[in-house]
Amino acid sequence: MKQGYGHKDKAVRILITGGTGLLGAALQYFAPGDIACFSVYYPERPLPLPLPFPMRAADVSNPEQMRSIFAWARPDLVIHTAAIGSVDYAQSHGDETAMVNVGGTKVVAELCRIFQAAVVYISSNAVFDGENPLYAETDPVNPINRYGRLKVDAEDVIRNSGVPWAIVRPILMYGWPYPGERDNPVVWWVRSLESGKGIKVVDNVFSKPLSVWSCAEAVWTIVRRSAAGIYHIAGRDHISLYEFALVTAEVFDLNPRLIEPVPDSYFPEIAPRPRDTSFDTTKMETELGLKPQGVKEGLAYMKSRRPPDDEK
Ligand SMILES: NC(=O)c1ccc[n+]([C@@H]2O[C@H](COP(=O)([O-])OP(=O)(O)OC[C@H]3O[C@@H](n4cnc5c(N)ncnc54)[C@H](OP(=O)(O)O)[C@@H]3O)[C@@H](O)[C@H]2O)c1
Repeated sequence: MKQGYGHKDKAVRILITGGTGLLGAALQYFAPGDIACFSVYYPERPLPLPLPFPMRAADVSNPEQMRSIFAWARPDLVIHTAAIGSVDYAQSHGDETAMVNVGGTKVVAELCRIFQAAVVYISSNAVFDGENPLYAETDPVNPINRYGRLKVDAEDVIRNSGVPWAIVRPILMYGWPYPGERDNPVVWWVRSLESGKGIKVVDNVFSKPLSVWSCAEAVWTIVRRSAAGIYHIAGRDHISLYEFALVTAEVFDLNPRLIEPVPDSYFPEIAPRPRDTSFDTTKMETELGLKPQGVKEGLAYMKSRRPPDDEK
């Protein structure tokens, strides 16, 4: 795929799917000033917090609803973040997840073709089996759970869509979710430790945790440069989830003795997780000019941005 988004020099009207999601909301807060954003959220409900750009409700897997969204936003480019993101939910609700994560991606790709828009698709580290880190963009995929298999299928939809595309694969993201949206491990750890509850955290699964703000910066860099192809986006520190929880306790001034390390076999009921899908970040650093952020720095930033009404 050649660099650039083909028929248009610069994407100035951007449609974000998953607008109230962790990444979808961060993308809006960090949008470059000269870009007009529009976003889609779902399901239709009163939104408790205003977001910076106009939003409309639509089911991403519904072609008619999404066609009217495209007609409203007239995007040059779509950042497609909307998905069922829970690995465990995807494992037990395979058909529903396929309809949203793959079916929704087909709807978005087809409308991009009709409306002559480019697409940046948000995929996942879950496309890898975790046996041979660090993963580069050229490494073969081999997912080990349903969520990962559906991400591979959705990537194929994007690659074969005939529209200019980039695929972004973020790894374990943390940050404050929009009210009522899915928690991430850091939020759960902070709330548990603040209420004096002991937690068990896996010490044999490794990652390079990524703050959602760093991910948003990377996506906007890709958009600004009309970068095409696959990009792995990750933080700097290559650590176990247990070590990550300890740093979280340190940064948030919470009691680390409440954190107990356990192996992943302690949680037999959850979907299989790859042991270590951490990324090689060479392409992100050299092509996009981005420096991966350490977890201490990312967590300190998260602490400084805590919503005032977040329950303590
Ligand atoms: N978070 C991570 O650690 C991580 C890591 C790697 C990749 N990813 C991928 O990155 C993307 C963004 O992740 P995220 O953490 O921002 O996810 P998220 O917070 O769960 O946001 C996803 C959004 O998609 C919306 N959505 C779900 N079904 C929909 C439908 N049928 N129609 C329209 N919107 C729908 C959700 O709305 P409701 O919640 O209101 O249903 C939610 O707002 C996802 O594709 C995810 O798979 C995430």
